[in-house]
Amino acid sequence: MSDILLETRDLKMHFPVSKGILQRKVGYVKAVDGVNLQVRRGETLGIVGESGCGKSTLARLMLRLLEPTSGEVLFEGENILNYNQKQMLRLRKDMQIVFQDPFASLNPRMTVGNIIAQPLKTQRAKTNLKRQVQNLLEIVGLNPEHYNRYPHEFSGGQRQRIGIARAIALKPKLIICDEPVSALDVSIQAQVINLLEDLQKEFQLTYIFIAHDLSVVKHISNRVSVMYLGRIVETAECARLYDHPHHPYTNALLSAIPLPDPRLERKRQRIVLKGDLPSPSNPPSGCTFHVRCPRAEEHCRNHIPTLVHHELESHQVSCFFPLVEEQRLENSI
Ligand SMILES: Nc1ncnc2c1ncn2[C@@H]1O[C@H](COP(=O)(O)OP(=O)(O)O)[C@@H](O)[C@H]1O
Ligand SMILES: [Mg+2]
Repeated sequence: MSDILLETRDLKMHFPVSKGILQRKVGYVKAVDGVNLQVRRGETLGIVGESGCGKSTLARLMLRLLEPTSGEVLFEGENILNYNQKQMLRLRKDMQIVFQDPFASLNPRMTVGNIIAQPLKTQRAKTNLKRQVQNLLEIVGLNPEHYNRYPHEFSGGQRQRIGIARAIALKPKLIICDEPVSALDVSIQAQVINLLEDLQKEFQLTYIFIAHDLSVVKHISNRVSVMYLGRIVETAECARLYDHPHHPYTNALLSAIPLPDPRLERKRQRIVLKGDLPSPSNPPSGCTFHVRCPRAEEHCRNHIPTLVHHELESHQVSCFFPLVEEQRLENSI
């Protein structure tokens, strides 16, 4: 069995933009613009990037909830974009998603029991439904007697546990967690992350864990990919990325995380990036980061960098002038 569970090859999603009463096509939003990544069996791959950089679109493409403009999505070595409906239904069992907003992702008119039972019903795993649901509630740390209650009767953290119970109901191989704790109080975030970690060990799950902040993914990820304007700009083993970032964007994101030690925090220099995230409908030329990059030179304006390994085989960066040791900030968090 191959070590790689899921792989994307030059995956692109360009949403057409139409205007006026004639709905004339006036351009494209390049939400995902050539993503190559590999997810290994049993690992947690963190994906981090600013809001709007294409993380949720990438998640939906990997699950084939959206048809890409071009590119490939391989699950266990097979391009799932060639699958027919029947093959897709079978595949759905193996890949699940946990959404960011536990308030919007659960149907308010359905009991928790019915919500969790839904995937079981679609896969015809109907024997002893109530027992299965109660068992799942117990696994995620909820009271099994509460299967008849409605989502509004639960707190945000509890609702996210319901979303997790639904995701693990069919014992999937892969779960994509799309900012699963971003909507939760900080005190609840750690509990939900701990639950996800326990479930990973128990059921040998592979996770793709999406966040907009590097501090959230640090403790759960084996490897981390940093995304900028629809592309992966850096991928490395977790500790390596935090201690030796090569991409100036990663370095800037790291410098924005407050340090727990106030003395170190006062001494630290913060990198403030110029401007906002450019619009994906009109991305800058060359390296799309060059307009905000403190290290950009003329070359970056006219040439597109590709993801290549730097110093280590496992450390990939898409930059013409990657950072070297003495240019990094003290960022240990
Ligand atoms: N269905 C859609 N049609 C047009 N544009 C979209 C659609 N979905 C997302 N986008 C655009 O794609 C970009 C990336 O969005 P998204 O994947 O939600 O980013 P993230 O999850 O990183 O915040 C945004 O500019 C967003 O407005
Ligand atoms: Mg999103």
